Amino acid sequence: MPSSWRERPAAQQPDWPDAGALERALKTLSTLPPLVFAGEARALRQALGRVATGHSFLLQAGDCAESFADFTADSIRDKLKVILQMAVVLTYGTGVPVVKVGRIAGQFAKPRSADTEVVGGVTLPSFRGHNVNDDAPTLEGRTPDPGRLIAAYHQSAATLNLLRAFTKGGFADLSQVHTWNQEFVATSSQGRRYEAFAGEIDRALRFMRACGINLGGEQSLHQVDFWTSHEALLLGYEEAMTRRDSLTGDWYDTSAHLVWIGERTRQPGGAHVEFCSGIANPVAAKVGPGGRPDDLVSLCDRLDPQRLPGRLTLVSRMGAGNVGKELTPLLRAVRNSGHPVVWACDPMHGNTFNGPGGRKTRRFEAVMAEIGEFFAVCRAEGVWPGGVHVELTGDNVTECLGGSEDIAADQLELRYTTTCDPRLNARQSLDLAFQVAELLR
Ligand code: TRP
Ligand code: MN
Repeated sequence: MPSSWRERPAAQQPDWPDAGALERALKTLSTLPPLVFAGEARALRQALGRVATGHSFLLQAGDCAESFADFTADSIRDKLKVILQMAVVLTYGTGVPVVKVGRIAGQFAKPRSADTEVVGGVTLPSFRGHNVNDDAPTLEGRTPDPGRLIAAYHQSAATLNLLRAFTKGGFADLSQVHTWNQEFVATSSQGRRYEAFAGEIDRALRFMRACGINLGGEQSLHQVDFWTSHEALLLGYEEAMTRRDSLTGDWYDTSAHLVWIGERTRQPGGAHVEFCSGIANPVAAKVGPGGRPDDLVSLCDRLDPQRLPGRLTLVSRMGAGNVGKELTPLLRAVRNSGHPVVWACDPMHGNTFNGPGGRKTRRFEAVMAEIGEFFAVCRAEGVWPGGVHVELTGDNVTECLGGSEDIAADQLELRYTTTCDPRLNARQSLDLAFQVAELLR
């Protein structure tokens, strides 16, 4: 049942000061329209099923945490632009269909390693995402406010509405392939490489038209399926968004097409696994270093008892240098268990460190190294390297070090705007897509 998680230990839940206000907010949410529809979640499960069997590739990308402050049409459009660019590079570069999933339209809540932090000598509750509290380091700002859950719902609805308009209304049409290249990207070496790619795609389309193919009638050239996802962290919110599908009678979490369980909340007896085991959406779990293979198989048994291809995605986040040692026994155990999971690589979270000035950062070269190790280990075990899960933005930020523009430690301060973890900028993201396409070929 949507509420059965309440009988299990739930890690990482905020300490809401006013239980009555929380209850009222959740009640309101449970009456609001669903953000996605069950049939869409089933279609994504089928698309991921084709990834599980080695016929497609998953690109899951977006902010570490969406922000109430950075909520504009431009920022949504620019994020979509870079994801479309990456998808087209991967699709055209490899001939493998790409399943496009955003960390967007609901990716607010953040797990934290400590409940409190000391800022300027004052102990404050930790920032847990804009759907819980404010990042400003004041007691007032950091006090969890259930009204933020409702605000997050409305921001998710507006974001999803614009994404649907863009992806179905002409913006994602393959004839627009040049317009996704933003000016600050186009001047870089990746941007020029992309322009050459886009020119080839134009030529391929002209060729097909000249052959007499009616391109206007080919829906798939003019639209993309773009799916939403976020971490299912705040179980009260997810429960309130969960509805019974009238067609099948199954429960669907209608807050997103796919939700995932984080590394810190995937205890097989815990509340998050209980909740996700009961919804019919495709689900994912992050898998970090140090886990036991039989525990991971138990998790697969809990989340994918019917062994449905596309139901469960496992997202490896081991850190560069660790993948061979850590992932190999897990790949083997899951393969031997017969669970038809998608294996994807999150090369971000195992490669985070504090740079000078205390800024959290990541090195682009470490991100690429982890992806390279992931592909090598999958190949060695005969497992399809099913996808990548990355944190990025369409903006020209300086949050991750290195890359071809070689962002240096003393440049981090220039444009460091993330609400949580450091993100790849649009050039670094495009660079990553070109390199992943080479690995996939
Ligand atoms: N619909 C196809 C797909 O999603 C082709 C396509 C249209 C496409 N626009 C795109 C692919 C933009 C990548 C990016 O694969
Ligand atoms: Mn993150």
